[in-house]
Amino acid sequence: MRTIRRIWTRLFRGIYSAIADNIYEPLVVKTAFPLFGKDLPGRVLEQGRRAVASAAGGPIIDLPVGTGYFAVDLATAHPGIVVGADVAWGMVERTRRTATEAGASRLIPLQADGFHLPFADGTFAAVVSSNGLQVMPDLAGAVAELHRVTRPGGSIYVSIPTIPIGALLPRAISSRLPTFFRSGRDVRDALFAVGFTSSILTRTRFAYLIMATREN
Ligand SMILES: C[S@@+](CC[C@H](N)C(=O)[O-])C[C@H]1O[C@@H](n2cnc3c(N)ncnc32)[C@H](O)[C@@H]1O
Repeated sequence: MRTIRRIWTRLFRGIYSAIADNIYEPLVVKTAFPLFGKDLPGRVLEQGRRAVASAAGGPIIDLPVGTGYFAVDLATAHPGIVVGADVAWGMVERTRRTATEAGASRLIPLQADGFHLPFADGTFAAVVSSNGLQVMPDLAGAVAELHRVTRPGGSIYVSIPTIPIGALLPRAISSRLPTFFRSGRDVRDALFAVGFTSSILTRTRFAYLIMATREN
């Protein structure tokens, strides 16, 4: 799994860096996300505002941050620090510019691999993971790292576009599919498996939105 993880991560790092400046927002945020999830962009912004309310001024991490399109909104509303982390340097640079232009000085862009975050256990009061888990191989490993950096009592806000053909297949097969083909329930179960508890799962067309909490 580690080798596959490394190969996919390198591949996505290159692709997303290359498209960060001119292609990503028009093609992905403004075209693909509404196609997959109808009002997904609006729902992601709403999740960000919920994260701000639940963090009560504590630090928030947005992973993966992409171009900062959504993170700028939450960082402008949040009185504390927002770390915007992404493995693709092109995305991180673009987030830096977006934050500067928007005057979102509390948004701190950081190049980091979501499987190895450079933060101590329980650093963040809230975690936002928008539209990224579907491109990260090893769902269990990704959510385990997000759980590790979430403070006890903190919440995670996930959105994920998928083509959930896994929901039609036996569990033994669906659990081996790439995350992009798995159902929202699978993603929620992965969050439960690493220790997140009480959750809310909603769907908008082919995208899922999940909120879960780390009790201790
Ligand atoms: C579809 S974009 C979503 C970005 C942003 N949250 C949004 O909604 O616009 C997926 C992002 O995941 C990032 N990514 C892929 N693998 C990653 C990893 N292992 N660690 C951190 N970021 C990763 C990519 O660089 C890309 O920016």
